[in-house]
Amino acid sequence: MSSASAPGKIILFGEHAVVYGQPALAAPVTQVRAEVRIEGTAEPGVWIDAADIQLHTRLDTLPAAHPIAATIHNTLKMLMSPLPSSVSIVIRSTIPVASGMGSGAAVSVALIRALAAYADIALSDEDVSALAYQTEIIHHGTPSGIDNTVVTYVKPVFFLKGNPLTTIKVGQPFTIVIGDTGVAASTRESVRGVRAGWEADRAHYEGLFSAIGSIVRTARQSLEAGTPDHLGPLMDENHALLQEMGVSSPELDRLVVGARASGALGAKLSGGGRGGNMIALVPAGKATAVAKSLLVAGARNTITTEIA
Ligand code: PMV
Repeated sequence: MSSASAPGKIILFGEHAVVYGQPALAAPVTQVRAEVRIEGTAEPGVWIDAADIQLHTRLDTLPAAHPIAATIHNTLKMLMSPLPSSVSIVIRSTIPVASGMGSGAAVSVALIRALAAYADIALSDEDVSALAYQTEIIHHGTPSGIDNTVVTYVKPVFFLKGNPLTTIKVGQPFTIVIGDTGVAASTRESVRGVRAGWEADRAHYEGLFSAIGSIVRTARQSLEAGTPDHLGPLMDENHALLQEMGVSSPELDRLVVGARASGALGAKLSGGGRGGNMIALVPAGKATAVAKSLLVAGARNTITTEIA
């Protein structure tokens, strides 16, 4: 038997622009996790049991391009170690699906690590992240790679596509309240929408992307210098630019406004947008009030997390 887990994540700054070569900042959220357990079973075949997505089937009935099947095949190929003929792969996750919290990447990373542990072969973080990236391509089309990176390394990261990973030392911990609109939104679709906008008016979109890039660089300095309060206005600016890109939604905007009105220092959507989650930076002692007002503003659920 083997098991492994991986956390959710939030993008603090820079989503979408990161696909076009700008930097982004992201952090793990360990309150929510994907877990994978692999164990022998009496029934012949390799069984996948992913109750959260109503999937209980034999691996050989899934198309090769199914994210779970592809992750298993790619990992076994790298490990050069087949699974035994009767085995059950149980996948559970508390990370909301299609909501910008990296649930797909977390399932991939937990699955890759559980398969490696089952084969008793050590994989480097680099290998794990690279394998998970292959599945992100199936999920997202043209992923930047930020999700698999932060979920693999479980540290706040400054991510620039194609560059070596930079983890961030947070100068002073700070509190984020995450609000879930409850609206499932496909990152693939929202990334495609931004691409269509960019193709129609490259100069305008490149201006938006580079404005976001500047915000990310300033935010990184505040994070490292231990002045997290400075992040609030930067979140507001980042949200306005994402609105202009067409990836916010009435539900997200309502939560962002509700968070600010109840004492948040700043708020923005997080991840692909058009639904899913938003984040609010809150001063010490205000988390409960902000979480309550998010529920009043329509949030289905909130998570309070510390970035340290
Ligand atoms: O929706 P999520 O959590 O998968 O985040 C997507 C982030 C984007 O920048 C929109 C896409 C990407 O590949 O970086």
